[in-house]
Amino acid sequence: MPAPLLTVVLAAGLGTRMRSATPKVLHKIAGRTMLGHVLDAVRVMTPERLALVVGPGMEDVAAEGRAAAPAVETYIQAERRGTADAVLAAAAALDGHAGDVMVLYGDTPLLTPETLSRMRAALEQGAGVVVLGFEAADPTGYGRLLTDAGGGLVAIREHADASEAERQIRLCNSGVMAFRVRGLAALLRRIGSSNAKGELYLTDAVELARSDGYAARVVVCSEEEVLGINDRSQLAAAEAIWQRRRRIEAMRNGASLVAPETVWLSYDTMIGRDVLIEPNVVIGPGVTIEDRVTIRANCHIVGIHGKDRAGLRIREGAIIGPFARLRPGADIGTDVHVGNFVEVKNAVMEAGAKANHLAYIGDGRVGADANIGAGTIFCNYDGYEKHHTDVGAGAFVGSNSALVAPVKIGDGAYVGSGSVITKDVPADALAVGRAPQETREGWAAKYRARRQRRK
Ligand code: UD1
Ligand code: MG
Repeated sequence: MPAPLLTVVLAAGLGTRMRSATPKVLHKIAGRTMLGHVLDAVRVMTPERLALVVGPGMEDVAAEGRAAAPAVETYIQAERRGTADAVLAAAAALDGHAGDVMVLYGDTPLLTPETLSRMRAALEQGAGVVVLGFEAADPTGYGRLLTDAGGGLVAIREHADASEAERQIRLCNSGVMAFRVRGLAALLRRIGSSNAKGELYLTDAVELARSDGYAARVVVCSEEEVLGINDRSQLAAAEAIWQRRRRIEAMRNGASLVAPETVWLSYDTMIGRDVLIEPNVVIGPGVTIEDRVTIRANCHIVGIHGKDRAGLRIREGAIIGPFARLRPGADIGTDVHVGNFVEVKNAVMEAGAKANHLAYIGDGRVGADANIGAGTIFCNYDGYEKHHTDVGAGAFVGSNSALVAPVKIGDGAYVGSGSVITKDVPADALAVGRAPQETREGWAAKYRARRQRRK
């Protein structure tokens, strides 16, 4: 039985280099906020308590914390006085907790649960303090990990306080730390601010814990995993890393991605086996793709967008695209075909239904094996409200028809091409709603002759 765990996520006093009205940790990677990613990685360790430290007025960050992890407790660090002070903002949580404590940053979204588990294991093996370190390509700015001959951690020296010799060290502090010490809050209160920045450094806890007789250890991960996001170019870099990881996972689980680097997935994308995804496909949040689905090139598929959280499912054997757009609430049935320039929103397409070209299917149902002709539009919106269109099983809607909702096409009915359908059509009937054709024999020849004479 591992000791109970308290995780503290620091998100106070974050920089402004995102140049944004949105707080840094609420910027998204793969459709989820950075903070959401961090809280998700933490969840695997099933912490008993989860504390989030925010700055004054960061109510939206606190709200996102609660959305991602309902049990989270929010603490406010009144003033940005350093990382030790930030952890102490959650002193009430620390005091009420006997067990392990892990500290993470809210702007390090690529941390994996595996790495956090390795840190936990190091505590189990007897360390009092475990620091997550990495070999930095350019260590400038990071705290350096000073180790002894046996690889034990002696101290962390902040860049600003380091000697020239210490600055040569490339093993750096990622910021993630784990503690198994009695009375961590009391230990942190002993930290002083006599350093280059005049801040209360959490990193000083290493030397203090050692002087109290605890062992300190380093767990190493890749630099990529602890990439901290400060600006939008780093945000894009993190997105690229996340996507690369997730594509590999999808392929290992049995999906074929023809050009993986051109397929964009979301944090919650579910992909079955023998799914084929062609190049240039964007899959937003809330999408489930069942087995044997084919997504042809250049499709845009989003199940959750803003307040519209309906989600979207593509059932077994369906073929989507090329150039199709699926939106929240689309339920694409077994073996359905959704072809080029077809948009489906909040609509069910039952098994075997087809809409192969140029259509808008919104707020409706297309019954099993029904055929929606090219250019069909479900006229669902009157400027105030959305209305429902129901197309029965086996119905055939001719090309370039407008179905003005609310309206119902019965099972097996036919709609003549170019119709504007405003009244329900009974099962097995034919409805034609267009101007009758008028044909004038010889008219064109006479017209041409008249114009020629005038010339
Ligand atoms: C910190 C570490 C450094 C490490 C680096 C990794 C210390 C003293 N230094 O340095 O060893 O290599 O991170 O990126 O810990 N924060 C607060 N309140 C504060 C100060 C910071 O919540 O008063 C939070 C920030 O939101 C941020 C994190 O703590 O998420 C780190 O703060 P930052 O100022 O970036 O520390 P660094 O100087 O980069
Ligand atoms: Mg930093």
